[in-house]
Amino acid sequence: MKVVNSIKEMQNLANEAKKAGKKISFVPTMGALHKGHLELISEGRKRGDLLVVSIFVNPTQFGPNEDFNRYPRDIEGDLKKARETGVDVVFTPTIEEMYPEGFQTYVEVSKLQNHLCGIFRHGHFRGVATVVLKLFNIVKPDVAIFGEKDYQQLKIIQRMVKDLNLEIEIVGFPVVREEGGLACSSRNSYLSHEDKECASTIYRALQEMKIEFERGQLSAREITEKGKRILKRAGIEEIDYIEVCDPETLESKQRATKGDIVAVAVRIKGVRLIDNIKL
Ligand code: PAF
Repeated sequence: MKVVNSIKEMQNLANEAKKAGKKISFVPTMGALHKGHLELISEGRKRGDLLVVSIFVNPTQFGPNEDFNRYPRDIEGDLKKARETGVDVVFTPTIEEMYPEGFQTYVEVSKLQNHLCGIFRHGHFRGVATVVLKLFNIVKPDVAIFGEKDYQQLKIIQRMVKDLNLEIEIVGFPVVREEGGLACSSRNSYLSHEDKECASTIYRALQEMKIEFERGQLSAREITEKGKRILKRAGIEEIDYIEVCDPETLESKQRATKGDIVAVAVRIKGVRLIDNIKL
């Protein structure tokens, strides 16, 4: 496995692979690799000849009061896991090279960013879209894999790829969960054992809301009120949003239909967790 820090070296490597007729698969990450990432990587392994994983904690997608500085970092552990999962190249650029002095070009997916997390994390998706486009231009993948846990991010990347005519297949991978049902996330490492048990209620609430819909409840308000009650009973008071939304536009729905997404974001002891389920 090669570890590449320089943008030019990564581009040269990608160019050579392309010349040799290899298909490049790509899993972008911010590191602190967990079971969810490893499943994305295994999927990437199946879909390409050269599998590239990037590890870059992207400063432009964190707000001023967010956790950029304390975001979990474990490069040695990550490299070991990547090696064991069959990664060919780990790309770990520096902030200085990704955002040199004078940097001023950003990508905005203007409508999709205005829902769900975008309302609570101003500028977050602009940072995500920008870094992902930069990574695409450096790694030159044929296929890139993103987790469905970050559903809005996935939709934004798919839209960007379509709107900007990028020849990259974007694959969404189902949410990977810990034993209790909590969606895998690097931020879970901030949680104590008890906090994690409490956080597993998020998935239970999503499942209960889906059951409510399947029983015939079509009012989004009734469905989400049920979810809120379950969360609050478990002591989760800080709910950023809990919404039934259109799976493509992410617009909030009043009447639920099959295939809609129920998306939720909560804070447990200041740790922001998101999850979703398809109705
Ligand atoms: O999902 C993530 O880990 C990040 O948002 C991504 C896609 C690697 C961009 O920094």
